[in-house]
Amino acid sequence: MTKKLKVGVIGLGSMGSTHLDIYAQLSNVEVIAIADSIQSRLDGSSKAEGNISGQAQGGVMSMDTKKYHDGMDLINDPEIQLVDICVGTDLHFIFVEAALAKGKHVLVEKPLARTYEEAKKIVQLAKNSSSNIMSAMCLRYWPAWVWLKEAIESQEYGKCLSLNCKRQTSFPGGSFYSSHNQCGGALLDLHVHDTDFINYCFGVPVSVFSQGYKGPSGGIDHVVTNYIFDKEKFSPLVSSEGTWTMQEGYGFDMSYTANFENGTATYLLAEKETLKVFKSGFEPETIDLKVGMGYEFEIRSFVDEILSGKKTNIDLLNQAAETIAIIEAEKVSIETCSVVAVES
Ligand SMILES: NC(=O)c1ccc[n+]([C@@H]2O[C@H](COP(=O)([O-])OP(=O)(O)OC[C@H]3O[C@@H](n4cnc5c(N)ncnc54)[C@H](O)[C@@H]3O)[C@@H](O)[C@H]2O)c1
Repeated sequence: MTKKLKVGVIGLGSMGSTHLDIYAQLSNVEVIAIADSIQSRLDGSSKAEGNISGQAQGGVMSMDTKKYHDGMDLINDPEIQLVDICVGTDLHFIFVEAALAKGKHVLVEKPLARTYEEAKKIVQLAKNSSSNIMSAMCLRYWPAWVWLKEAIESQEYGKCLSLNCKRQTSFPGGSFYSSHNQCGGALLDLHVHDTDFINYCFGVPVSVFSQGYKGPSGGIDHVVTNYIFDKEKFSPLVSSEGTWTMQEGYGFDMSYTANFENGTATYLLAEKETLKVFKSGFEPETIDLKVGMGYEFEIRSFVDEILSGKKTNIDLLNQAAETIAIIEAEKVSIETCSVVAVES
C-alpha cells in the first residue's frame, strides 16, 4: 500500500470545512488531526457555510481524528506532515512560522498574510526551508481562469487588449469578517483573488488608481481599481471591482470580460454556459470547462507536489506576497485619491 500524506487542518470555518471535503476525496491523504478553538466547530455541532454552491458540505462529526483546541498543539504533533492553515488572515504568519520551524509542509489559505511585511518574511522563511509551502490562491486553479491565463499566454485570440474582473457578494458576517484589522476588509479578503490573478497574468503593475468606500468590516469593503502597466511595453487596460456590500440575498457572483485582438471572452458564474467566446462573423462559442472548483485542483496539485518530492516554486509564492503590496498601494490610492506607485 502506498503511504498517505498525514494532514492536520487548523481552523474549521468555511475554508477548513471546504478543505476537509477535498481531502476526503483524495486517496493519497489522511487527515489525522483537526483544530479549532470553538468547541462546537471541533465536535461538529456547528458548521460554517461557504459562499459558492457545493462548498463546505462536509462535517467533522464522524471524523475519527485527533482534536486540538489550539492550532499550535496540532503543529507540535510529530505525526503530522502537512499543516493546513485555515484560520483568519491575521494569524497566518504566526502559524506558518511555527509550522515551518517544525519542518512541516504548509498550505496556507489566501491571502498569504495580513500585511506585505509579514508576507515577505514568509517568503524568506520558505527560501530557508526544505518544506513545501503553498499560498492557496485558488483562482489560479479555477478552470475558467486557467483557460484565461492560457489564452493570454498563447495569444490564441491575439494579444489581450483589456481585462475587467468583478467579484460581488453580501457581507459574510462573523467576528473575523467584522474586523478589518483581522481580515483587511473586502479590499484584501475578497478582491485579493482578482488582484492576484492580474499579477499572475501581467506581473506587478507600475501603479494603481483605486476608489472605494468603507463598510461593515470597518475597512474598505468596496473597491474599483485600474492597474497601470509600463506604457513603454504593450500594456493592456486592466481593471477590477470587489465588494461585499451588496444587500442580503444578493448571493455571490464572480465574472470577467477579456477582450483580445480577435475574440472577446466572458465568464459569468450565474450563467448556465459560464464561459463564452465571441468572434466577429462567427456564432458565439461556449467553452467546456473541467468540472470542479479551484480549491480541489489547488489541493490536488499541492499534495502531488509534496508526494513527488518537487520543490516549492518560490516565484509563485513571492507573487502571492507581491499581490499584498499591490493591495496596500490600492488602499493608499483610495485614501489619497491619487495614482500610487506599487513598491514591491
Ligand atoms: N480561498 C477562498 O476562496 C477563501 C474563502 C473564504 C475564506 N478564505 C480564507 O480562509 C481563512 C479562514 O476563513 P473562514 O471564513 O474559514 O474564517 P472563520 O473565522 O469562519 O474560521 C476560522 C476558524 O479558525 C479558528 N481559530 C482561530 N484561532 C485558532 C487557534 N489559535 N487554534 C485553532 N483554531 C483557531 C476559529 O475558531 C474559526 O473557527 C481566511 O484567511 C480567509 O481569507 C479563503
